[in-house]
Order: sequence, then structure tokens, then C-alpha cells
Amino acid sequence: MKTGGQIAVIGGAGFIGSATARRLHDAGYQPIIFDSLITGRAENVTDYELVKGDITDIAAVTNFFRDHQFSAIVMLAGLIEVAESMKLPGEYLRVNVTGMMTITAEAARAKLPVVFSSSAAVYGQPEQTPITETAATHPINPYGSTKLICEQILASYQMSAGLPWVGLRYFNAAGSYDGVGDRSSSHLLPLASRAVIAGQPVRIFGTDYQTIDGTCVRDYVHVADLAAAHVLAITKLLEGVSLNQAINLGGGRGLSVIEMIEELEEACGHPVERTLEGRRPGDPATLLADIKLAADLLGWRPDHTVEQIVADAFAFERSQSA
Ligand code: UFG
Repeated sequence: MKTGGQIAVIGGAGFIGSATARRLHDAGYQPIIFDSLITGRAENVTDYELVKGDITDIAAVTNFFRDHQFSAIVMLAGLIEVAESMKLPGEYLRVNVTGMMTITAEAARAKLPVVFSSSAAVYGQPEQTPITETAATHPINPYGSTKLICEQILASYQMSAGLPWVGLRYFNAAGSYDGVGDRSSSHLLPLASRAVIAGQPVRIFGTDYQTIDGTCVRDYVHVADLAAAHVLAITKLLEGVSLNQAINLGGGRGLSVIEMIEELEEACGHPVERTLEGRRPGDPATLLADIKLAADLLGWRPDHTVEQIVADAFAFERSQSA
């Protein structure tokens, strides 16, 4: 395995980025972090260099690349809240798309392969499950459409300049790694864990879906498994393997909201009170990844159980409330 080079981890102070940087470091690479610290946190970057800067600031990005000798880029930075993207589409386009163009231009100039954080949101309401990478991409919110545009930016530079890239389409990233968890204000596990800790009921959005128990089914994948996939992808690209496509990353199994709450009961050791509410706008009934391509192309398989995902998510929230 060819390792050891400097890797630019753009957005490396956040939930998935900091786990990725840690795994890169453990695999013998030297991660260097570029992060605006708007949602990322400096304390998540303990053992390597952190450069504070914004992906929309062309001068800051240019200086970052000029000042280092990178061999590859992991691009995780961007705005990531679906509901917010419905209210602020222009802001999502400005940050995610222009940021991606700036980073990709640097990648093409310095001939650096790119691993990009994409999302299951590119699929929108899937016609079939499990979802394969050949499924139609019809995003239903600006967040998802910006992720798709970013993939297309990379594909355009691949066509014109031979830029090597891979897009990793995360399904429901969850758990925690090295003391860093998901600070989202919309995701199920953080919200449910916070409710349990505060002694409040967990809210269930929608109980009339065509699923096993009427609640939405999702494919949860541990952040440590996502981080491992980034390391495999970087290593393949540096070995000269042609990927140049998007790859799903999920746990490969679906759990309903009620099943996740039952797992949370195991993790916290007592029954969890629930309130049944109406559907949250824009939620597809089922999102389940076909993860065969990740196994075939990257040699990746998730190895964390749902119990570990829920236990780690809950432990992180407890650490925050202590
Ligand atoms: N949910 C609840 N109660 C809560 C929070 C969420 O019932 O307090 C439900 C949601 O309605 C949904 C399920 O839990 O049915 C999962 O919701 P999340 O917000 O945790 O995750 P999403 O599936 O909506 O989001 C994920 C990724 C996004 C991505 C999206 C694609 O986190 O980045 O899938 O649809 F865009």
C-alpha cells in the first residue's frame, strides 16, 4: 500500500472529516486540515496542522495549496442541512458549488486526485430499493442538487484534464469516533439521544409509510466505517486505479425509526417515551443502499453493528451533557 503523502482534508474539523483525518493518519498519511470552523471545531484537530479558511475564499484556498506538497484531496466541506437548503438555495449553491469549483481547479492544476463527500440525497425519491449507483438521480432539495452538481464538476475535469476522482454517496452517517459525534439539529439519533438525556419524549415523524411498522426506514452507517472508506479510496487513487464515479456507502441494512428507538432503549437501559407526529416534508419512506460496488471497487465493507452505531451516538450525547 502506497502511503505517507500529505493529504488535504477540506472540512476536516467536522464530524466525518475529523474521523477521516484520524484514519488517514493511522494509515500512514499526513492529513492537513482546511476548515472554516463554522461548524467544524478546532478541538477536533489535535495531532496535525489546521489552516482556518473558507472554500469560497479563492485566495485562502490558493495559498493553502501553494504552501503544501499534497498528493491527494479529500473534499468534505460544505453546507449539509436539507431543511436549511430549502430556505436558502442560493447560499447552498454559492458555498457548495463555487467551493467545489475552487477546490477542483486547484486539484486539476496540481494533478491531485479527489475523494468527494457526496450523499444519498442525489437520488431523491428512489424508484427501487436497495439503491444502486445506476439509479436515476432526481434530487428533491437544493442540498442534494448541489451534491450532484459537484459530482458533475469533477466528472467534467476528468473528461477535459484526466482528473482522477471518486464521489462517496453517504447514506445515514451516525455514531461517533474519537470523541467526536454528529452535532446535527435534524438527524434522528442525535435528537433522540438528546431527548432521552433531557427526559423528554422522542418525536417520531410519520407513522403511515409503507414500511415494516409505518415509520421511515434508513440505512445507518458508522462514521468510522465511512472514514475507512475514504482511506481505501485515497489509496486506490494514488495507486493509479481509475474510479471516476460515485459509490454508495451505507450499512447495507435498513432500520425503521421505531427500530432505532428500540436500539436506543438498549443503549440507555430503560424504556424511551415517544410522541407520534405527522410526516416531515420531503422524507422518502425507505432509503437503503446497495453497497456491492464499494466492496468490488474499494474492498470496503462496513464492520460496525447497529448496536455500536446507536451506543456510540448516545455515548457522545451523554459526554456533551456531562
Ligand atoms: N426523524 C424522526 N424524529 C426526529 C428526527 C428524525 O422521526 O427527531 C426521522 C425522519 O423523519 C426520518 C428518519 O428519522 O424519517 C431519519 O432522519 P434523519 O434526519 O436522521 O436523516 P435523513 O434520512 O433525513 O437524512 C439523510 C442524510 C442527509 C441526506 C438524506 C437524503 O443525513 O444528509 O438522508 O435523503 F441528505
